[in-house]
Amino acid sequence: PQVQSHKFVIQETPVKRLCRTQNSITVNGMLPGPTLEVRNGDTLEVLVVNKARYNATIHWHGIRQMRTGWADGPEFVTQCPIRPGGSYTYRFTIQGQEGTLWWHAHSSWLRATVYGALIILPAQGQPYPFPKPMRETAIVLGEWWNADPIDVVREATRTGATPNVSDAYTINGQPGDLYNCSSQDTTIVPIDIGETNLLRVINAALNQPLFFTVANHKLTVVGADASYTKPFTTSVIMLGPGQTTDVLIKGDQLPARYYMAARAYHSAQNAAFDNTTTTAILEYKSAPCPAKKGINAPKPIMPSLPAYNDTNTVTTFSQSFRSLRKAEVPTDIDENLFFTVGLGLNSCPPNFPSSRCQGPNGTRFTASMNNVSFVFPQTFSLLQAYQQGIPGVFTTDFPGTPPLQFDYTGNVSQSLYQPVPGTKLYKLKYGSSVQIVLQDTSIVTPENHPIHLHGYDFYIIAEGFGNFDPKTDTSKFNLVDPPLRNTAAVPVNGWAVIRFVADNPGVWIMHCHLDVHITWGLAMAFLVENGVGELQTLQAPPPDLPIC
Ligand code: C2O
Repeated sequence: PQVQSHKFVIQETPVKRLCRTQNSITVNGMLPGPTLEVRNGDTLEVLVVNKARYNATIHWHGIRQMRTGWADGPEFVTQCPIRPGGSYTYRFTIQGQEGTLWWHAHSSWLRATVYGALIILPAQGQPYPFPKPMRETAIVLGEWWNADPIDVVREATRTGATPNVSDAYTINGQPGDLYNCSSQDTTIVPIDIGETNLLRVINAALNQPLFFTVANHKLTVVGADASYTKPFTTSVIMLGPGQTTDVLIKGDQLPARYYMAARAYHSAQNAAFDNTTTTAILEYKSAPCPAKKGINAPKPIMPSLPAYNDTNTVTTFSQSFRSLRKAEVPTDIDENLFFTVGLGLNSCPPNFPSSRCQGPNGTRFTASMNNVSFVFPQTFSLLQAYQQGIPGVFTTDFPGTPPLQFDYTGNVSQSLYQPVPGTKLYKLKYGSSVQIVLQDTSIVTPENHPIHLHGYDFYIIAEGFGNFDPKTDTSKFNLVDPPLRNTAAVPVNGWAVIRFVADNPGVWIMHCHLDVHITWGLAMAFLVENGVGELQTLQAPPPDLPIC
């Protein structure tokens, strides 16, 4: 195992997209930022220097951070932000994870432009559980705004309305040649006859689940969220923001150019969304001359993508996942939890100017889990407050079940539309076995929510539609080979059940990875207590930990 050191400078950089130049916040002047490639067992040390005008932090999405919660990164959860002019070194070890993860800013909407791939190869001398591909390509899907994304979210927060949707999707930072002024820099992915290319697909988009496909080529899924899966073949994949999927494609078609394309899977009703298509080009090295880039080059072959609301395709895909490695699903459950995930509407407070309540019928949008709309603290990070016993920063009364039972996927009374704000944690004893039913609600709109848990991987043992029924739905539980993930796409108008063992002490946020929903409060956090002895205890905070 090695120690790898890197320096990330967060800085303002002129970036040209869609016919105009914008000063974007980047890492080291790159969009996406640098790809980190490590091996299982390696230690990463990343010095982050903030030269931008915004607060910043970096989160290593999906890294378990065993006992190193101080390096996790969510602002006001495990650290205070790195202020402009400040710096912080994130130090952590990769323990038993292999595959594709990513890193991103975890402060306001900064991650719109501050993100990159984090690739974990097997330890030196260890093979992949599939024939070694001749090439590997990271495919990082993103979202681009013609405005500063921080301004977009600030405006939405000021008015209580939904934020503007993005102006383009991107592949490796490029919109692709279906957009204006974008053909020059379209991402080219090489392949040759007989070759296999491992595509490490990451959905780094801010607010949009995305379909991804490659014209004429089958995709063989071999991993997701840095866990291997039993291989299965599909023509299209869907990733919620935060999710990754590793697929093998084979150069078994006529040598030519083929589009890879991504477009929205949009399950919310009556809500505006960006319905454009981003492309990259899969280019055979031996493609005959006319197919090479040039004046008369024929257009690449275009794939067909599912309709934006094609939930059937999503269901078929998500139910195909099986863990390749032996699953260690906890069976004696200590904590049987039920969390609703959904939106809400807060009435405009009295004496509030109506310009600040531009949601439906003069309300403000909000969101919650179990009717608690999460509020980030300002004076201490949750982890620091816990470790130092500082009172008044959070409470530990997050409800383990919803305050009210109702028909979550039916017509819901307006009286249920108003969650209560709070900084509430749920306390877990070290080593407890946890099951959580994540139930989408139809309050305001049903929607597919990508729910991400920090500091853990969890098994998704079942998913379904309608209201979760503990009497009948337990028969659907897969305790044999369920997929291990860090982000679960909870079906629209449906539910998912996850399980994990609370073996990593610290404070770990769980939230919807649609950033607009975090902004509205769709989050909570677990406080996992220390166990016995050093190996079950959170490490001491690093000396350069930013404080508020
Ligand atoms: Cu990838 Cu809390 O996020």
